[in-house]
Amino acid sequence: MESRGNWGSRVGFILAAAGSAIGLGNIWRFPYLTGKNGGALFVLIYVGCVLVLGLPVMLAELALGRATGKNPVGAFRAIRPGTKWHYTGYLGVVAAVMILSFYSVVAGWTLGYCYKTLSGSFRLVGKSEVAVIFSRFIASPWLQLLLLALFIFLTIFIVSKGVSAGLEKFSMVLMPALFLILILLMIYSLTLPGAERGLAFYLKPDFTEINGRVFLEAMGQAFFSLSLGMGTMLTYGSYLSKKEKLVSSAAWVAFLDTSVALLAGFIIFPALFSQNMAPDQGPGLVFAILPVIFGKIPGGVIFGAFFFILLALAALTSTISLLEVPVAFLIDEKKWPRRRASWLIGGLSLLFGIPSALSGGGVKFFSRLPLFHVDFLSLWDKVWGNIALSIGSLLIAFFVAYVWKTAKALEEITAGGARFRLARLWVISIKYICPLLILVVLISQFF
Ligand code: TRP
Repeated sequence: MESRGNWGSRVGFILAAAGSAIGLGNIWRFPYLTGKNGGALFVLIYVGCVLVLGLPVMLAELALGRATGKNPVGAFRAIRPGTKWHYTGYLGVVAAVMILSFYSVVAGWTLGYCYKTLSGSFRLVGKSEVAVIFSRFIASPWLQLLLLALFIFLTIFIVSKGVSAGLEKFSMVLMPALFLILILLMIYSLTLPGAERGLAFYLKPDFTEINGRVFLEAMGQAFFSLSLGMGTMLTYGSYLSKKEKLVSSAAWVAFLDTSVALLAGFIIFPALFSQNMAPDQGPGLVFAILPVIFGKIPGGVIFGAFFFILLALAALTSTISLLEVPVAFLIDEKKWPRRRASWLIGGLSLLFGIPSALSGGGVKFFSRLPLFHVDFLSLWDKVWGNIALSIGSLLIAFFVAYVWKTAKALEEITAGGARFRLARLWVISIKYICPLLILVVLISQFF
């Protein structure tokens, strides 16, 4: 049997888990959803969801993973054999394949933009040229397929070699570099003329805008950004030793992840408003504004290319964690060799990614069906990135609270004498707040 591997150290684990959490979700998805949903109010609800739902679910997943030492399907089976609970694990495995499929398309965009920036496409051009470059870019079918395939192959290549080998060391350099470049960009962006209007949009909530969709998208974004609801953190927890403290690890990961997202907002919105650009352009938002900034900064060619390469690498540590879930499932439950599992699942994601890769060309798939009138990438993002993860988180919270039971989970969380001062708060959240709130938000979508 294949050995499952283990994290080298606590810092290594936090960095690898933060590497999973920090990615396009923070720098591409968070700004575009904030822009689409009216700004500050969305940000407020998102941060609230991270604290009230995200952190408790993350702890639940880590505890489940470490207690069982298994993949999502195996973990549910180990605790409640002979029941249907392991289907929650299967939902996670399918969601992983689907999220990987469209996520890799956007990751491919970052690779393409790295090349474009370096080759000088954005030098001295204004916002309208940048917009044209983007729409031509996403409408080139072969290029999109090539970039998608390239990104998925990179992911397969690394996952087929096993988890911790190199991943921790890699994140140890990547994350601080990304943080630094984001801070520099933020300083630049905040000093642009008109930046204050962007800040107002980003920070001053307009409570009249509140509605069910804003709530669902903010909640979904919290789960998406923290890599929750489909067993990523569960799987990462299964590689964690009993000595490590779950609570502070989870808190660190959530803190780092949320900081990076908030930082990205401080770059995007001041810049957007200083250019008089609309915040609600959808998935292309950051690809419409960032090149405009890089076109103005002295040395912007190098700086911009460096930024996109770091973003691609941050996306890579996330796609690795996505692929790792189905792969761990096939290794544990079906006794497949790691290489075969990585290639098969990666190949499936590539296949399912094709409609998303082609959707920028205005090609509509199944457009006669209800819901399918929007572009496929946005649809897949909503179905798997929002709804499936919310359902997954709901099931995980319910399982830990009422099937596995919070006492058992707390035993795991405090194993080895670790302290957990907010244990009672966690129990209340996982038993009542998570299941109820997620359910209400999901159901409200149908009215
Ligand atoms: N959280 C990552 C990001 O923000 C994406 C991601 C990786 C993910 N693994 C996940 C999202 C598992 C949901 C579930 O870019």
